[in-house]
Amino acid sequence: MKGIILAGGSGTRLYPSTNSVNKHLLAIYDKPMIYYPLSVLMLGGIREIMIISTPEDIGRFEEMLGDGSAFGIQIEYEVQREPKGIPQALTIAEEFIADDKVTLILADNIFFGHGFTTLFRKAIKNHRHATVFGYRVKDPERFGVVDFDHHQKVISIEEKPEHPKSDFAVTGLYIYDQQAVKLAKKLKPSKRGELEITDLNKQYLMRNQLDVELLGRGFTWMDAGTHESLFEATEFIRITQKRQGFKLACIEEIAYYLGYISKQALYEKGKAMEKNDYGQYLLEIADRKYTQQYWDSIEHHPMLGLVQNE
Ligand code: G1P
Repeated sequence: MKGIILAGGSGTRLYPSTNSVNKHLLAIYDKPMIYYPLSVLMLGGIREIMIISTPEDIGRFEEMLGDGSAFGIQIEYEVQREPKGIPQALTIAEEFIADDKVTLILADNIFFGHGFTTLFRKAIKNHRHATVFGYRVKDPERFGVVDFDHHQKVISIEEKPEHPKSDFAVTGLYIYDQQAVKLAKKLKPSKRGELEITDLNKQYLMRNQLDVELLGRGFTWMDAGTHESLFEATEFIRITQKRQGFKLACIEEIAYYLGYISKQALYEKGKAMEKNDYGQYLLEIADRKYTQQYWDSIEHHPMLGLVQNE
């Protein structure tokens, strides 16, 4: 399974903050926005990842994350010359995807919830052809909307419908089989002049090959595309982290717990940032003595539980 993070776009909705900086490099509380989708792919066990961004910005992502080896993964970079829509990411990544399946995630999407890792890993394992993730929202008309019957069989999928057939938004996380690139190449631009990911999903639906996984009421899904939603996401991350003492989307921690990087490597990363709370958090994990009692209580930490169980 390959992973793609689409971090393109002009970010006009966040001007003037994004006049000279890519939106996905902005901080959501204590880490750059792109850490959040990257952590999702890592938690799913995906280690070969391509980041796609604009010609102006791609270098900054590379500067930040390098070839991924510091996090025990491989990252490649590719350019989207013009923002022609989400499915374009698949055609840009054609060679990278090769004959593999692919998970595509939008770089401003934040997923959080107990059991998310398990749900996502199961979705990858049981994946047939195309899987989207549905999340109930108050304003479905702002998103792709998926309707399904009581067996969770998809009936329809529409892009920003005036009269949504359900309250379930399609989140920016998609899993596709080997047909994706071929089907993406056949798409025609919509009225807004872009290729629509919903049109690709419709192609799968026509073939009876579209599945939906539902993220229940205990989950949080946010995008951070406007000043208001960026602030809300920041607030949410701050409060959740403060209360529990766990960081969300801390890719260094994830790499360590998944066994991708050593304790020494984690320690060094912490040391380099020891003056702030992020660095101190890494040092604290590296210093932690893992007693038997700790491992026995492992189910209290979803990610550790996963590592133990596998
Ligand atoms: C895009 C997709 C939409 C999806 C949304 C999720 O919307 O077109 O189907 O629900 O991402 O973030 P856009 O951000 O292009 O308006």
